[in-house]
Amino acid sequence: MKNKFYVTTPIYYVNDKPHIGHAYTTILADVLARFHRASGDDVFFLTGLDEHGQKVQQAAEARQMTSQAHCDDLAPRFLHLWEKLEIQHDDFIRTTQPRHVRVVQETLQKVYDAGDVYEDEYEGWYSVSEERFITATEKESGEFRDIKQLKEKNWFFRMSKYQQRLIDHINDNPEFIQPVHRRNEVLGFLRQPLGDLCISRPKSRMSWGIELPFDTEYVTYVWFDALLNYVTGPGYLADETLFQKWWPASIHLIGKDILTTHSVYWPTMLFSLGLPLPKTIFAHGWWLTGDAKMSKSLGNIVNPLDLIDEYGVDPVRYYLMREMVLGQDSNFTEASFIKRYNSDLANDFGNLLNRVSGLIGKYFDGCVPAPQEETPAEQEVRQCAESLDGRKHELIQELKVHEAIEETLALVRKMNKYLESQAPWKVAKEDLGRAGTILYTACEALRISAVHLEPVMPAKTKILLEVLGAETTGVKWGELQSGTKLKAHEALFPRVEIEK
Ligand code: MSP
Repeated sequence: MKNKFYVTTPIYYVNDKPHIGHAYTTILADVLARFHRASGDDVFFLTGLDEHGQKVQQAAEARQMTSQAHCDDLAPRFLHLWEKLEIQHDDFIRTTQPRHVRVVQETLQKVYDAGDVYEDEYEGWYSVSEERFITATEKESGEFRDIKQLKEKNWFFRMSKYQQRLIDHINDNPEFIQPVHRRNEVLGFLRQPLGDLCISRPKSRMSWGIELPFDTEYVTYVWFDALLNYVTGPGYLADETLFQKWWPASIHLIGKDILTTHSVYWPTMLFSLGLPLPKTIFAHGWWLTGDAKMSKSLGNIVNPLDLIDEYGVDPVRYYLMREMVLGQDSNFTEASFIKRYNSDLANDFGNLLNRVSGLIGKYFDGCVPAPQEETPAEQEVRQCAESLDGRKHELIQELKVHEAIEETLALVRKMNKYLESQAPWKVAKEDLGRAGTILYTACEALRISAVHLEPVMPAKTKILLEVLGAETTGVKWGELQSGTKLKAHEALFPRVEIEK
C-alpha cells in the first residue's frame, strides 16, 4: 500500500498582494509534495485563502469594495503567483466557499451540542490589530497595538477543559510540534492556566464572517473558521471515505507567528470534535530584509513576481529552499541571491552540463558514449550518486530540505572536480574508450543530480533531462542509455553580473 502524505500551508489573508513570505511556505509545501510524489507516495497538497475577519473587511473598505468583491478580485492574484511559481496544489480552498461555510456551521453546532460552548459577558482589553481579547500580562508587554477596553456578550469555547490532554499529547508525541524550541515554547505557554476561547464577534462590531448557527447576532471568530479549512479540504462532513483517507494531516507548515493558534486552539477544537490531531505542526522562521521584518510600512517587502521576472522561477525556488535553515530566520538580500545563483547554479550545476555536452559534442559526435571498465575514481563517483537517494530520504523526513539540496550539490561539485582530475579532453587524444567512460560517468551523475533536484527546480531539471535524452526519472545508476543523442541547448543558468 502506498504511503499517504497530506501537507498544508496556512491559508493567506486576502488583505494584500502575496509577498516572499507567503511564496516561501507555498514553495516549501510544493517541494515536500514533489519529493513525496517522486517516492511513490499518495499526496494531497492543500493551500488557500483566509477571506473572513476584520483584516479583510478593513482592506475591502479601504478599496471601497464589498468584502466579497475584494476577495474575488484578489484571489486570482494568488492563483497567478502559484502558477508562476510552478506550485502543484491539489486543492485551493477559499473560506467563503459554501463547502467551508457549511463545515464551520455544522462544526459549531457539534461543539455546541457537546456542551463545549457557552455564552458569557466578558470585560477586558481587546487588541483591534490582533482581533482578540488579550490578558493583562500581554497588555503590559507593549507588543499589542490598538488596545481598547471592551465589555461584550460573547460565545466561548471550553478550551481550558482540554489543557491537560493537550500537554500529555505534546509530551507523548515528540514529532507533534517542531522544531523542538517551538515545542518548548508551547509547553511553556501551557504552564499557565489556559483560558477559554472567545469564538464569536457581534455583528454590530464586525459583520464579515460566518454566522453562528445558534445565534444569528454573531459571526464566527476568524481563527475558529480558518483552522477548519484543513478538514474541509479533504471532505470533512461531506465525503467520509475521502476524509478517512487523508485525515489526520501529515504536516501543517506554518510561520512561527501563528504557532499558538495552530498548536493550542486547533488541537483543542479537534479534541472536542473527536478527531485525531495532525501528525506534525512545523513552524518555520521569518524571511527578513536587511535584518528587519518585512513590512509595508518599512517599504522592504520583496515581491516574488519581480524576482521571477528577473531571474526565472527555478532560481527563486532554489534560493529560498537552499538558504533557509528550516526553523530559523533568514535574511533576504539580492546580493546573496545573486551570489548563490552564480556559485551553485551557474558555476556548479549549469557549468557541469556545458562541459559534458561540449566534450561529448567534440569527441563523440554528440552521442552519450558507452562506458568501459571502471577505475576506483568512477567507483567513488558511482557510490556517491547511489547513496544519495537514501540520504536524501532521511533528510526530507527530518525536514532538512537545505541539507538534502546541499548533498546533491556536493555530488555536482564532486563531478566538476572529477572532470578536472580525469581531464577527458587530454585522455581522448590517446584513449577514446577511457574518455568515453569518464564522460558517461559525468553524464549519468548529472542526470541523477537533476532527478534529485526536480522537486526544487522542476522547469530547469526538465530541460536538462531532455538535453540528456534521459527517458527515465529513476535514480539507479546506469539508466542513461549510451548512444542517445544530446540535444542542443543554451546555458541553463547564465551568469548574472554582480553590478546588477
Ligand atoms: N490567515 C492566517 C493563517 C490562517 S491558517 C489557518 C495568516 N495569514 S497571513 O497571510 O498573515 O500569513 C500567512 C503565513 O505567512 C504565516 O505562516 C506567516 O508566518 C507567513 N509569513 C508572513 N510574512 C512572512 C515572512 N516575512 N517570512 C516568512 N513567512 C512569513 O496568518
